[in-house]
Amino acid sequence: WILILDYGSQYTQLIARRIREFNIYCEIHPFNKDLSDFENNLPSGVIMSGGPSSVNDEDAPYLNTNVFDFEVPVLGICYGLQILAHHIIPGSVEKAERREFGRSDLIVDDDSDLLSNIPEESVVWMSHGDHIKKLPADYEIIAHTDNARVAAVRHVNEKIFGVQFHPEVVHTVYGKQILKNFALDICKLEGTWTAESFIESTVKEIREQVGNDRVVCGLSGGVDSTVVASLIHEAIGDQLQCIFVDNGLLRKNEFQKVLDLYEKELNLPVKGIDASDQFLEALKGVTDPEKKRKIIGNVFIDVFDEAISNDKSFKFLGQGTLYPDVIESISFKGPSATIKSHHNVGGLPEEMNLSLIEPVRELFKDEVRNVGRKLGIPDGFIKRHPFPGPGLGIRILSDVTRDKLTLLREVDDIFISELRSQDLYDEVWQALAVLLPVQSVGVMGDERTYEYTAALRAVTSVDGMTADWAHLPHPFLAYVSNRIINEVPGINRVVYDVSSKPPSTIEWE
Ligand code: XMP
Repeated sequence: WILILDYGSQYTQLIARRIREFNIYCEIHPFNKDLSDFENNLPSGVIMSGGPSSVNDEDAPYLNTNVFDFEVPVLGICYGLQILAHHIIPGSVEKAERREFGRSDLIVDDDSDLLSNIPEESVVWMSHGDHIKKLPADYEIIAHTDNARVAAVRHVNEKIFGVQFHPEVVHTVYGKQILKNFALDICKLEGTWTAESFIESTVKEIREQVGNDRVVCGLSGGVDSTVVASLIHEAIGDQLQCIFVDNGLLRKNEFQKVLDLYEKELNLPVKGIDASDQFLEALKGVTDPEKKRKIIGNVFIDVFDEAISNDKSFKFLGQGTLYPDVIESISFKGPSATIKSHHNVGGLPEEMNLSLIEPVRELFKDEVRNVGRKLGIPDGFIKRHPFPGPGLGIRILSDVTRDKLTLLREVDDIFISELRSQDLYDEVWQALAVLLPVQSVGVMGDERTYEYTAALRAVTSVDGMTADWAHLPHPFLAYVSNRIINEVPGINRVVYDVSSKPPSTIEWE
């Protein structure tokens, strides 16, 4: 496996993604990690990421010299390279006269190892303000650019390499090849870490961890919790009990559809609990989005707790925690502001006294999907758009009532089913309908109407952190709008949301 030491770059996770694409396992840890933690599980190579600091700053992240104790190949990227040079000759890294951001032409001087199978000239992506002025004695240059004499280097005797550009970003055309040269040829790793091998070892671990005890798992109807439940089920069979709660805020027929999938197609032992009355009662008259989230989260905990409280045999709770949630990140910006307090099936209180099982806590979302496919979860389900825990509750921009929910369900169903039938569903990252608390005048037949407005939103995105509104074809929007206004009594106007995130968010609440 490969250890990635994080110096705070926005691209650190990308390095991990690229390495894993070669079916090689890797982990991200802070640069100052105590490396003796890996005594019993030594890495075969180390990559040091880029970072926003300058090595000359006071309190700048430093070189973790213990990496050399492993006696394995090391690759420094950008800041990771500069810190190598700075450690050997303090002051060898200086502010560049010309800062370099964006594309640059790399000229290879030596293609014998790190840069093998790279053309003599290729485009790389730079992002740095400092550069190496003086190269330490035992290092030699293996590539340069017009602006940077030192674009790639290697130690003359040891397997230590450094690049000033970012091989992990797609704009570096041969970046993938460079990382492959490092991981496969230089670190001598074989790509054996696949979805199948992950399933095999994880199932074995769960079996050992759980023994003869029982596990409870809250399902959300989403991919992560479903994959977790399937993995645990594969390991311990009916020692697992799943719980799927209808909070009354699901989409049209969703409770039954998802329950059927769990029971009939995936054979999961699942108990469906209709708690919609309890949720809707607690939400009565509440309009503030954060209050809604809190109430929904609390009622969920009550319902879940009650469902398992009679049965003392549960010792474990299965959770769909993902890798991005557990990476100890190096933050130079301080804690970020809470924009929305997301509620997931996760946040159950500690008093429940259950030990956690988090089988996908080392995986990225797309890796979870791959595992899901291999476990036989239908593709249609795996490719489902994300759906927030608080459901339609945060898509009704006023107090939540049964009538409004019925209205919104019909609108959502027309929008989503048309996206599917016109082959646009997989083109967008997420699509949703919002019920606005706005009534407006319309005319139907010869009658005046005064009814609600529905907003449709569809976005393209990679991870939900940033998003653009989806440029859906106008005839499609016209058709959907027409269907909604004709078929859903109570709606006489449809608008399409053309805002990106940031500054807007994906959900309206
Ligand atoms: P925003 O609206 O923050 O949404 O741009 C980003 C992604 O997160 C989902 N979302 C939630 N998911 N609980 C969830 O489980 C929540 O409270 C919540 N709020 C937003 C949203 O659907 C989008 O995919």
